[in-house]
Amino acid sequence: MSLTAREYDPRELVPEFVRIYGGRGEDVAVFSSPARINIIGEHIDYNGGKVFPAAINRYLYVAIRKRSDTKVVYNDVRFPGTFEFDINDDFAFDKKNDYANYLNGILSQMKARGCRFGCGFEILMVSNVPAGGGISSSSALECGFAYAVSETFGFGIGRIEIAKLGQMSEHNFMGVNCGIMDQFIIATGKRNFAEMLDCATLEYEYAPLELGDYRFVVMNTNKVRKLADSKYNERRGECEEALRRLRAGGVDIEALCDMTPARWGEVRGIVGEPVLERRVTHCVNENQRVLDAVDALRAGDLARLGSLLKESHASLRDDYEVTGVELDTLADSACAQEGCLGARMTGAGFGGCAIALVHKDSVGSFIENVQREYSAKIGYEAGFFACESGDGVSRLI
Ligand code: GLA
Repeated sequence: MSLTAREYDPRELVPEFVRIYGGRGEDVAVFSSPARINIIGEHIDYNGGKVFPAAINRYLYVAIRKRSDTKVVYNDVRFPGTFEFDINDDFAFDKKNDYANYLNGILSQMKARGCRFGCGFEILMVSNVPAGGGISSSSALECGFAYAVSETFGFGIGRIEIAKLGQMSEHNFMGVNCGIMDQFIIATGKRNFAEMLDCATLEYEYAPLELGDYRFVVMNTNKVRKLADSKYNERRGECEEALRRLRAGGVDIEALCDMTPARWGEVRGIVGEPVLERRVTHCVNENQRVLDAVDALRAGDLARLGSLLKESHASLRDDYEVTGVELDTLADSACAQEGCLGARMTGAGFGGCAIALVHKDSVGSFIENVQREYSAKIGYEAGFFACESGDGVSRLI
């Protein structure tokens, strides 16, 4: 699905549910789960850093109803085929289960926590979040499903725990050693606010997302990501190795982002390998940029925020090396347009999406120009949309 595909209207979901499963529409509950952008603070959630994401107004929807038997049935409006399990199954990972693995990962975690299901259930899902597009389609799925099941069965699992369930499912089922940022913002996000999350303590603070005449434009490279997961784990491994060397060398830190840029300057010689040094340089500086960005937003200094976005992208390109020609082309072209204050990749990188801070009157010409430059250089089109903030996982109906 491209970012410009028709958005599914969630009001169509209950009638569709009844067409598939029969029964009464009144018994069906519908939940929504947002996509996210990360404004700044990239690849530091797993390094004890601070991040600054926001939930956006693109959602995945989950319609759900308990069954009178023990079956668990999944359908998705856009993916043909039905998945059927039994609530007493052990819900182990199985490649042939495709997207159902994300859901089974959540169920297996819930059962491990002692959640007891008296019966099965059936769901129908649909997502307006492009899959693999870098705005966290998989976390939207994990957290939306976890919340829907928890509310339907009265488990009352809190939002932070929902986020952790999503992250664990990703680690144990999907083999991606991700941080907590995506699931956290999807579980706790609030419309009109971005969120500053301290990933070392999970303390968080909402900051009004007041952009005046500016909008965040999401730009999708539409690049098929293949190696993304292994590269992600590789970066994580490099950070762990750098941390190990620093600690062995007597630096008293729990995580890389415990160091200020000044402290890093004093001890960088200990790491003893240029690639690892560059990774740490990114982490330490990016953490500082998050603090600066939150201050800039609070002060209404959008020009400063834009400069920080540019610096972040350069650091992810040169020091962390997770951008690639597609994201660099989008970011460079974006920054050269009139009305754009800054742009950067968002999420894991290696493809996926970038964001740009653009004046509302320039959004049309901005998209046209960046699209032209991107497709001339890359050979296929990018996807664009101007987003607004959104709400974290919620019950709609
Ligand atoms: C992915 C992961 C997050 C985070 C970002 C990079 O989105 O799921 O935990 O590490 O990459 O900032």
